[in-house]
Amino acid sequence: MNNEDIAQLYSKYVMNTYTHTPLSLAKGKGSRVWDLQHNEYLDFFPGWGVSVLGHCPSRVVAGIKSQSKKIIHVSNNYYNHLQAKLAQKLVKISQLDAKVFFCNSGAEANEGAFKLARLYGKGSRYKIITMNNSFHGRTLAALSATGQEKYKSGFEPLLEGFIHVAFNNLKDIKDKIDSQTVAVMLELVQGEGGINVAESDYVKKLRSLCDENNILLIIDEVQTGIGRTGKWFSYQNYGIEPDIITLAKGIAGGLPMGAVLAKNSVADLIKPGMHASTFGGSPLVSKAALAVIDTIMKNNLLKQTFEKGEYLKTKLLGLKSNYSIIKEVRGLGLMLGMELDSKGKEIFQLCLQNRLLVNLTQGNILRIMPAMNVTYKEIDKAVAVLDRVFRDILK
Ligand SMILES: Cc1ncc(COP(=O)(O)O)c(C=O)c1O
Repeated sequence: MNNEDIAQLYSKYVMNTYTHTPLSLAKGKGSRVWDLQHNEYLDFFPGWGVSVLGHCPSRVVAGIKSQSKKIIHVSNNYYNHLQAKLAQKLVKISQLDAKVFFCNSGAEANEGAFKLARLYGKGSRYKIITMNNSFHGRTLAALSATGQEKYKSGFEPLLEGFIHVAFNNLKDIKDKIDSQTVAVMLELVQGEGGINVAESDYVKKLRSLCDENNILLIIDEVQTGIGRTGKWFSYQNYGIEPDIITLAKGIAGGLPMGAVLAKNSVADLIKPGMHASTFGGSPLVSKAALAVIDTIMKNNLLKQTFEKGEYLKTKLLGLKSNYSIIKEVRGLGLMLGMELDSKGKEIFQLCLQNRLLVNLTQGNILRIMPAMNVTYKEIDKAVAVLDRVFRDILK
């Protein structure tokens, strides 16, 4: 089968929801992937932020293999010791006095957070303030929360009660809080929005503002969570405690899993029958997630993510000083963005031609999120490709 055959099958049988890069990825190991024709690529955006340990991490592979021979799925009406152990680990690394609900995706985790917030609001408070440029998923409530109009067109009317404000602007939140506001929700590093980092002072003041008004602070950690920013969760860079966090992407090393962690004062409002997810926290996926956490701990990958993030950022800043087309380099840990003046699409295409996979968001921001176990050699190689691409584009 070649790429054209595959594209034909897609056009006939798969709904046309994604813009496809014409590559059929067939194999991966760490930060390297191979297409069906055995061409090798350096993957600096593995799995759209999912593959935090790169492709096919060995402990995760071993965990899936062994667990698949024991039991793959059980109903959530039975106990599942792997889910229980995973919840305990997540609560421990979150350093929150919390409980966990397991589901299958980021959007589903956010739906769970909205339902918890509504319970907390006891019917009289239901409004949730979210940020312009945010992204929270494609289900109707998550889409309503998302602060980008381009995703909503054609799907209106959306759910009422989501109020959008400017990012990093406390006054805008203060102005929009009213007696029906129950929560503020944000990503501390906006991913799809263009790697916009929340300011430290803003986040601390936002925490106080929420406390003063008995408003829940929900952090969407779907993209930032599980070590991506050099801490287990991005809020740990800010020295604050959220009331609810939502997780997905990296949590199970590539298997689908989402999770909501809520402080006990909120989590304990849920009673049997109020919320559920058939596949949530299955033995197979929980085993994979335990292996992800184990790998990060045993290989000291949080520290490495911080150090490699600094190293990569310094190199990207070096490129910025050479090429005026790069307006800004920003991000936390290994979640980095390069804002370009122009030619975003051409640069993305040239990277691809040079066998480097990155992401382009908002049309002009190169999103660079390599795996936490990327090597320094791979970082140097990717930076050399970017250097060549910028040189060629400006010829
Ligand atoms: C911050 C954030 N929240 C939620 C989502 C939605 O996650 P999913 O696609 O798993 O539903 C995403 C996906 O990119 C995301 O980046």
